[in-house]
Amino acid sequence: MLTSGVSRVPIAILPTPVAEMKRLSEVLGGPRIFIKRDDQTGLATGGNKARKLEYLIADALQQGADTVLTVGGPQSNHSRQTAAAAAMYGLRAVLVLSGSEPSDWGGNLLLDDLLGAKVRWAGDTPLQEAMEEAASEEEQAGHRPYLIPLGGSTPLGATGYVAAMEELWSQLDELELELDVVIVPTGSGGTQAGMLVGAGALGFAGQIAGISAFGDQKTVQAILQELVPGTAEFLGLDVAIEDSDLVVYDDYLGEGYGVVADIEREAIRLVARSEAILLDPVYTGRAMAGLMDLIGKGVFRSGQHILFWHTGGTSALFSYAEDLMQGSS
Ligand SMILES: Cc1ncc(COP(=O)(O)O)c(C=O)c1O
Repeated sequence: MLTSGVSRVPIAILPTPVAEMKRLSEVLGGPRIFIKRDDQTGLATGGNKARKLEYLIADALQQGADTVLTVGGPQSNHSRQTAAAAAMYGLRAVLVLSGSEPSDWGGNLLLDDLLGAKVRWAGDTPLQEAMEEAASEEEQAGHRPYLIPLGGSTPLGATGYVAAMEELWSQLDELELELDVVIVPTGSGGTQAGMLVGAGALGFAGQIAGISAFGDQKTVQAILQELVPGTAEFLGLDVAIEDSDLVVYDDYLGEGYGVVADIEREAIRLVARSEAILLDPVYTGRAMAGLMDLIGKGVFRSGQHILFWHTGGTSALFSYAEDLMQGSS
């Protein structure tokens, strides 16, 4: 195993299924499309962070922490999964969320509360600074906090997606399937970075293409340029990854992070209605809209095999009801 030697605690239900989206492929009339269901990792409605947290929580426990502290937006899937993973292992969770308390505690925020997390609002303070403030207050109160940066995107967190790539590799072998492209929604970069390292180490011949939910192409590529070699080095893997392997599309950012527009609405509806699979409004809805556009433009063609990596986030759907219902038919 590529990740053996790194401590891990069980959190996610693995392996997550791979399925073909036959009806969607038919509607789009392009390549064959497959899906990897990391929305089914089982961690309080699932998602990609469950895989990263297997390594991060193991480290927190080894370091004798009694509290995990992380940051995110008000509807952060990462924060909700961190709260859930902490509850599984008897740790406290402190979530520092951007902005001020909204009037609606729906979606992930509701789950944060049910899972027992302490939520702090950063207001105008930058998240990193607000996290450090929270950490020192926790220490003063006698706790031992373990800090998880945005999205858990450190070499240790990205290790979860090196292991995920290995999991996919054996599923592809069983299915006798060769992929041309893996599409993954990208935010803080750890998921795509881990996949790139896994792909490089395994000799995966296809492309790993990120569709950004918030950073522009240069910003995300700069993150990958650090995190990919950092993760490979951490795992002692000799992986040669060129800049041309760091494929990031930033054409679907629209009005910015978490702002739902027609393209996300259409993608979410189409996948729900053709496959009974629920995407999320912020990451996978946007990434699927990107995939649909790229197929429409002939970037991905019939004869190719594409895998869409569903990274979860469906619990945020409920806090976007008004945006998603616009123009409903
Ligand atoms: C549903 C979903 N997809 C994708 C991502 C992006 O993952 P990463 O931050 O590792 O790039 C996130 C991050 O929070 C997420 O919640």
